[in-house]
Amino acid sequence: MKPKVYITRRIPDSIIARIEKECEVSIWPETDIPVPREVLEREIVDADGLFCLLTESVDKELIAKAQKLKVISNMAVGYNNIDIEAAKEKGILVTNTPGVLTETTADLTFALMMASARRIIESSNYLRNGNWKTWSPMQLTGQDIYGATLGIIGMGRIGASLAKRSKGFDMNILYYNRSRKPLLEKEMNMKYVDFDTLLSESDFVCIMTPYTPETKNLITYRELSLMKKTSILINTARGGIVNEEDLFQALKNGEIWAAGMDVFVQEPVPLDHPLLTLPNVVTLPHIGSASVNTRMKMADLAAVNLLLVLNNNPPLHLVV
Ligand code: DGY
Repeated sequence: MKPKVYITRRIPDSIIARIEKECEVSIWPETDIPVPREVLEREIVDADGLFCLLTESVDKELIAKAQKLKVISNMAVGYNNIDIEAAKEKGILVTNTPGVLTETTADLTFALMMASARRIIESSNYLRNGNWKTWSPMQLTGQDIYGATLGIIGMGRIGASLAKRSKGFDMNILYYNRSRKPLLEKEMNMKYVDFDTLLSESDFVCIMTPYTPETKNLITYRELSLMKKTSILINTARGGIVNEEDLFQALKNGEIWAAGMDVFVQEPVPLDHPLLTLPNVVTLPHIGSASVNTRMKMADLAAVNLLLVLNNNPPLHLVV
């Protein structure tokens, strides 16, 4: 008998077909509406494999309902949506999709740095709203990227790729990480500094760490007030790492100059969120890895991980 797999969203047909060759597949058919909790609770009961997205909370209660689940394959590198301990206790393997999204996410992070520093969205709106009456010396002036100091918090794959990009802009690179990366440090000519030094000396502070209990609210008013008044905070990691109320206050009080946010505590971010009222915040709907090629690779890798486990082989990327 073929193993049963539940896929929590409409993913590309070629990937579904690939899974269907080996499994009996049920799928939540929507592309832009997440699977309702009650449907997921029903489907997980007799599933052997779950193919899910970061929008699904695969928590203890949900995992408790699974009777024969062998694998939770997350189509994301981050896995903070999954209760890893609960899965481990039940002997369920959790897999993710690192690597394939590294360059695309680093690209987007750099794009956010540039958009925030050079006021790209604000300037475009300025023109379209009919405010462009003349060229003037200090009109829509921003901050330089070239030659500035980039502070990277979290030197994993994406952090390293961001560092690589910044070399082309002759940026000075500071980084903070749980462990030092001596080889990379040399290769990229980066300087390892303590957390507070990174905050106070950087022109751009980019958050590139996973979301864990340790990184929750890593950036609060205290950290923002250590930053330069001309500096820019970029978050393409996870919303909960930055305290959004504190960020709003810090921007209002001029503690920092601008922010670029691809991720939020609540996603989709509510339209009445205070951060959306500020012109110096560039806001994106969690599109760090959103290139056609990369999303195809992520879906493909999530399928490979799932099928490997269902065939009693080790997955390519095991979380636990
Ligand atoms: C991830 O993979 O964790 C990103 O947030 C989405 O690509």
